[in-house]
Amino acid sequence: MKLSIIGSGYVGLVTGTCLAEAGHTVICVDNNQAKVKELQAGRIPIYEPGLEDLIRRNVQLKRLSFTASIKEAVENSEVIFIAVPTPPQEDGSVDLSYVEHVAREIAEVLPGYRIIVDKSTVPVKTGEHVTETIRRYCRKGVEFDVVSNPEFLREGSAVADLQKPDRIVIGVASDRPVAAMKAIYEPFKAPIMITDLNSAELIKHAANSFLALKITYINLVAAVCEASQANVTQVAEGMGSDARIGRAFLNAGLGYGGSCFPKDVSAFIRIAEELGVDFGLMREVEKINASIPERFLKKLRSSLWVMKDKKVGQLGLAFKANTDDVRSSVAIELAKRMVAEGAILRCHDPKGGEKARELLPQGVEIVSDAYQVAEGADVLIVATEWPEYRLLDWHKIKNSMRTPRIFDGRNLLNPAEMKSLGFEYTSVGR
Ligand code: UDX
Ligand code: UDX
Repeated sequence: MKLSIIGSGYVGLVTGTCLAEAGHTVICVDNNQAKVKELQAGRIPIYEPGLEDLIRRNVQLKRLSFTASIKEAVENSEVIFIAVPTPPQEDGSVDLSYVEHVAREIAEVLPGYRIIVDKSTVPVKTGEHVTETIRRYCRKGVEFDVVSNPEFLREGSAVADLQKPDRIVIGVASDRPVAAMKAIYEPFKAPIMITDLNSAELIKHAANSFLALKITYINLVAAVCEASQANVTQVAEGMGSDARIGRAFLNAGLGYGGSCFPKDVSAFIRIAEELGVDFGLMREVEKINASIPERFLKKLRSSLWVMKDKKVGQLGLAFKANTDDVRSSVAIELAKRMVAEGAILRCHDPKGGEKARELLPQGVEIVSDAYQVAEGADVLIVATEWPEYRLLDWHKIKNSMRTPRIFDGRNLLNPAEMKSLGFEYTSVGR
């Protein structure tokens, strides 16, 4: 089928590429001309495992192209996906101005029947507003359908998530777009759920909030484990092997971050509030999650005694492993707090270093060799769970530190191994 995606960021670019790989012809649109030029020249603005090869392949096969023109995209496609940002506003509510703007632009150039699919994470009832907006701005008599098709991809495993989804949710207001939507996803061999528009929109916020709740729950269990000399990893295994619970998203650590969970949780609280429902449970989740870095720092302070002028090496800046994304990263938050308390900080991240530079305070050194962060350090912090950190030569690291002390905020390393190497090793809930 002929498709276009408006907004070529983490979500739009990966979605467009995977749809092209599935055999469709896809135009990726972005209003950032510089980004479009880069993409046209074969340079990929984000790091996502497997993405670059897929883009190159599909561009060569002429199934994937890039443009800044919404008009060109709308004229040449049957289905148009919207994947522009839906950032949080000061009060937690969602800024829908990009979505509205794009809906209007599509409407103004709509030449005939098209399906307009919202992929961005939006509050329930946005589909209805998008429908009204398009109707208001399109030529009289032009027909269209608005569909909600939320994206569940995780950064760092986005390509795999997209190609092998647990389910595909398609929210519609009528039967007309169903066949085309099913045809788009037919190659993915995943269960397809057809729902009404509002339910599809709610599934995304309800799912992300539930996952954030699950992480927060295990982080509190970790605090209980610490206070009772239990081991949160074993508790999570035991809980998680109950099929009703599941092991995924029960990793204790520094709390959730990134560009989705924090914004989706606060959006969901606001959405419920506006609908007259007090979702105090999620407010509590937000509060607890925000307190986790402080809990970690408290342990660190009590080990270092004085933070000022201590040399701190930090492994990890990205909000999770396998991505260069540092937006709302707890690792960055931690770094800022330590610097504010006078620590001298040197950081490393396999992919996120460059993007982190703009967010970190002046004076923080970012190095490209992980071993360098340990040299002469009083403590080494693990702030992102990059698997390759596990494979470092920890004996060499121990010998290069001023005091062999590790604070593992992601429970990445093996406590017994670290202790036998001679480290003072602290992790979360074990
Ligand atoms: C975004 C939203 O944050 C998320 O809620 C939604 O589910 C999908 O889109 P992401 O892809 O991570 O997620 O955002 P980002 O990487 O910032 O990419 C958005 C792209 O849209 C950028 O390339 C931006 O230049 C582009 N854009 C933005 C447009 O093309 N038009 C606009 O009007 C605004
Ligand atoms: C999330 C959702 O998982 C995805 O379905 C949705 O489309 C977008 O939002 P993402 O933010 O890319 O994806 O990453 P995710 O793997 O969910 O991690 C989010 C945060 O939770 C990270 O900071 C991660 O470190 C943290 N996390 C995750 C934990 O602290 N413990 C866990 O067990 C899992």
